[in-house]
Amino acid sequence: MQSEHALICGPLRAPAPGWTARADAIVVGSGVAGLTSALHLRDLGLRVLLVTKAQIDEGSTRWAQGGIAAALSEEDSPEDHMTDTMVAGAGLCDPDGVTILVTEGPHAMRELMEWGARFDTDPSGSIALTREGGHHRDRIAHAGGDATGREVSRALVAAVHASPEIEVIENALVLDLLRSADGAAQGVTLHVIGTGQRDGVGAALAPAVILATGGIGQVFGQTTNPYVSTGDGVALAVRAGASVADIEFVQFHPTVLWLGPHAQGQQPLVSEAVRGEGAVLRDDAGVAFMADEHPLADLAPRDIVAKAIMRRMRATGTEHVWLDGRHLGADVWVRRFPTILESCRLRGIDPVTDLIPVAPAQHYVSGGVRTDIDGRSSIRGLYACGEVACTGVHGANRLASNSLLEGLVFSRRIAAAVSADELLPAEPMPQGTPGVLIPVQLRRPMQRIMDEDAGVLRSATSLRRAAAWLAEVVRSAPQDVRPTTENWETTNIMTIAQVLVRHALLREETRGSHWREDFPESEVDWQVRLVTHMDAAGTFDSTLEPVP
Ligand code: SIN
Repeated sequence: MQSEHALICGPLRAPAPGWTARADAIVVGSGVAGLTSALHLRDLGLRVLLVTKAQIDEGSTRWAQGGIAAALSEEDSPEDHMTDTMVAGAGLCDPDGVTILVTEGPHAMRELMEWGARFDTDPSGSIALTREGGHHRDRIAHAGGDATGREVSRALVAAVHASPEIEVIENALVLDLLRSADGAAQGVTLHVIGTGQRDGVGAALAPAVILATGGIGQVFGQTTNPYVSTGDGVALAVRAGASVADIEFVQFHPTVLWLGPHAQGQQPLVSEAVRGEGAVLRDDAGVAFMADEHPLADLAPRDIVAKAIMRRMRATGTEHVWLDGRHLGADVWVRRFPTILESCRLRGIDPVTDLIPVAPAQHYVSGGVRTDIDGRSSIRGLYACGEVACTGVHGANRLASNSLLEGLVFSRRIAAAVSADELLPAEPMPQGTPGVLIPVQLRRPMQRIMDEDAGVLRSATSLRRAAAWLAEVVRSAPQDVRPTTENWETTNIMTIAQVLVRHALLREETRGSHWREDFPESEVDWQVRLVTHMDAAGTFDSTLEPVP
């Protein structure tokens, strides 16, 4: 399936690097996937350069509330965790990847605790476990009640800072991949703001590059992701010609605090764990509507809850539904959900006495840079870990609290692969033909188009409209856009938007978090992975990959 249009944003050419740094491996990103990749690489004796776009603790990980899923209790087993993961993934999970995730998960959790992360415990001193959507067992470990990501980030950042083998460069936006004459990764170009000698555009050179840049939330107008989530790693990989997959499967979290129709940017999450503790969704008339939707009611897999809410909002002509956690009582709110409690109270809502207005918003992308089960992308020396990657473990819809786990488990495997693969440093080639940069002024209009036409509910009409708009923006982009951080980021979200809309249009079915109004059923013929790469001429080429 080739694209009719010649392209979009081709490989971009940054100004000539003003400085060079060298290491054995470069890790791009400082969430759970990036930090643990760096620690594992260090343990294998490699010199690591970790580059991160803002401050080291500013990625998505810090915002994770619910926790980390792992079969840690005697009543649970990796097999049960696997079953729930596969069911949520709606036929597109890679069974080998999922087996690795659930069997290596408990060990990865113990390792995380050895690095200093402290999880909440029950009165007997065991790790306290709760439940979230799609899980048939209590298996979600949490910290600080609902501040799991903050604790994980704190512990891992401290471990990285205590490692002289890991050099950290902050405020470093990754631009493009550097490659040798035979196509292997040899490093990245970076745009660094204000750190002395390493200021401006530079080259970080190493024969192994691990992308751990997190999510793509800023492609949409309302997201739970922080402002740094502009999909820089996915966009870099697309421009370099690496394969990306499953990018149409964008997860909309069902319960995001509704702040009004004009709210933009990062929105406050109300964790699934609140429903795990007993809160229920109600419509405007007070009806607890999830009981009629799924045997697990309010704890159905996330895509099912998000769709049910959207249908209810349409049927009742409302802009949100309500989450009722009043019966949980003040003690539970204070002890288990201090972050959510504060975030609601700041906005004049007291969950102890009030219903919480919630609506779905972008939260996660299940696809990304296509990798094997050891994190290798289709480009030699380029690896991807965490949300930026498509290992296939999430299929069409990620099971709640499997994301931090994926970062923990696959970072270890990637470090082992980097150390086993014969990667040789070589002189990078000059970069290819420049594409266009998209100015930041187009960011908000682009997000609006993506919200309206490629959001929760999609159709051929809406997706064609989005595709035409995006193509026109690229076609008419001025040639003299300055290479600022904001313009690069806008270009990155434009690149991802184009692949996402293409995939959503091609996939003529409804499956997991991809919901087509004009193709409302799942189709057996579509039980395949859609994989796309950009060829040297800047044209997208998509193929179908069987799912075992
Ligand atoms: C949540 O706490 O509801 C989010 C958990 C997740 O995205 O896995």
